[in-house]
Amino acid sequence: MKQPVRVAVTGAAGQISYSLLFRIASGDMLGKDQPVILQLLEITPALEALKGVVMELEDCAFPLLAGVVQTDDANVAFKDADYALLVGARPRGPGMERKDLLEANAAIFSAQGKALNDNASRNVKVLVVGNPANTNALIAQRNAPDLDPRNFTAMTRLDHNRGMAQLAEETETTVNDIKKMIIWGNHSSTQYPDLTFTTVKGQPALEQVQRDWYEGTYIPNVQQRGAAIIKARGASSAASAANAAIAHIRSWALGTDENDWVSMGVYSNGEYGIQKGLIYSFPCTCQNGDWKIVEGLDVSSAFSQEKMKATETELAEERDAVSHLLPN
Ligand code: NAD
Ligand code: LMR
Repeated sequence: MKQPVRVAVTGAAGQISYSLLFRIASGDMLGKDQPVILQLLEITPALEALKGVVMELEDCAFPLLAGVVQTDDANVAFKDADYALLVGARPRGPGMERKDLLEANAAIFSAQGKALNDNASRNVKVLVVGNPANTNALIAQRNAPDLDPRNFTAMTRLDHNRGMAQLAEETETTVNDIKKMIIWGNHSSTQYPDLTFTTVKGQPALEQVQRDWYEGTYIPNVQQRGAAIIKARGASSAASAANAAIAHIRSWALGTDENDWVSMGVYSNGEYGIQKGLIYSFPCTCQNGDWKIVEGLDVSSAFSQEKMKATETELAEERDAVSHLLPN
């Protein structure tokens, strides 16, 4: 059996965590041979609820669960953390855009960036789920000057999975038949779900769907899926968000499939002309615990350029709105 790794999860008594923690502890995220110590962070008033969640974790008798820490102190939660899943943040309600949460949530991520900087493993893999996820990841990263910016990522895997599922439905195939989906940019309604390079059963996706459906139905539906769930459920997505977080870390830690890629919000070094330093969703492959942006794709069409730029502009505006929280 391997040595346990430390997995910090914030917002541990919330909706997403109620699906997430049990799957991490059962080995879905890091493999059935990888014991984990869960280091759970909550705000003080939620510690009692967290206690109940931990009682349930104990009652599962998971063989891989090597320990649980419960705390309201980020320095304790992130101590020697190998993985940090930053879920704790306010969710949006009906009629809000995710960036409307910036004011409420941004301060959380500057404090947690500092705590990661001071306490976590130097190789910590950070996934920001709390919205607006890309800009919160940027805030955490900029407040952690001693950590490699590559350690900070934001979740667009849920959008990627939504894009695959909706394409499978339209083409009467299954998600197993779909490869090379891309979500570019922000986890917001400006994201660009791009099928230019996607294949269905090995053939170009865009030859198997109507262009009108792609531009007029598919792209807006993927962009607006989070809002549609809030409208239907009265609360934001939780189990599917937890599933995407599991998939994101699993791909990063254990590698992506050959001949496919995944979408991850990662630090831009100027790839595809995107401003350096933004946390922008790109197609990525992962190997040996490291991610790499897929380069060399032809994105020169006016349609792609306009959409990639619009979501970049929104991210730059979000960044500028929180400049007081970006010390470096
Ligand atoms: P929730 O309200 O059920 O849970 C959030 C939890 O975070 C609460 O228990 C709260 O006490 C805790 N919390 C608040 N501030 C904290 C802090 N400073 N430190 C630690 N914990 C803190 O919300 P949820 O449904 O679990 O969603 C959490 C976040 O994830 C929201 O911002 C939501 O919009 C976002 N989300 C993102 C995606 C994505 O694809 N990136 C998908 C779904 C939801
Ligand atoms: C989602 O995409 O489901 C989440 O980001 C929640 C939301 O606010 O839409």
